[in-house]
Amino acid sequence: MMLNLKTESPERWLAQVDNHLDEILIDHAHCENKAARAALNLLMSYVENEELTIKMTEIVNEELEHFHQVLGMLKKRGIPFRRLTQSNYGRQMKELIRPQEPDRAVDRLLVAALIEARSCERFDLLRHHIDDVELSDFYDELFESEARHYSVYVQLAEDFAPRRKVELRLQELARAEADIINHGDTLPRMHS
Ligand SMILES: [Fe+2]
Ligand SMILES: [Fe+2]
Repeated sequence: MMLNLKTESPERWLAQVDNHLDEILIDHAHCENKAARAALNLLMSYVENEELTIKMTEIVNEELEHFHQVLGMLKKRGIPFRRLTQSNYGRQMKELIRPQEPDRAVDRLLVAALIEARSCERFDLLRHHIDDVELSDFYDELFESEARHYSVYVQLAEDFAPRRKVELRLQELARAEADIINHGDTLPRMHS
């Protein structure tokens, strides 16, 4: 299974997004934006951690670059960018974060890692599914970069807890993520 995920996307997901590929692209733009914001929030919460600060700065830049690229794809296709109702995924993932430090830091980083992992899995499904070659190549490119982000987040979690604890917590959170995915969401979204 890809990047520690505990479940593959159910069949229903591709069926759900198939007739809404424009909306998926709009949602994707929002996801890149949110990924940048999450990295910036981590940077601001843990300013004493120099390694984290450097890595988060890089990720913020990369996610904003992705955001611009997706906006470009939308523009080319004549799809206006707009606000969308969010799926429950992000909120449900955030609810898994324990409140006390340093657990909180570990969980924030691992939740970010799992969201990256799920994005990778979905880019992989989409790139094989769609006929738009330019978009398919773009998902291919993003796959590599989000897979790298996954590793950066998992590795940074080890600054806040011993490796074994991080590994156990990652497995726990991955099982919770799988439940959220299997439960699903009716909206056609990158993470529904
Ligand atoms: Fe990204
Ligand atoms: Fe990312």
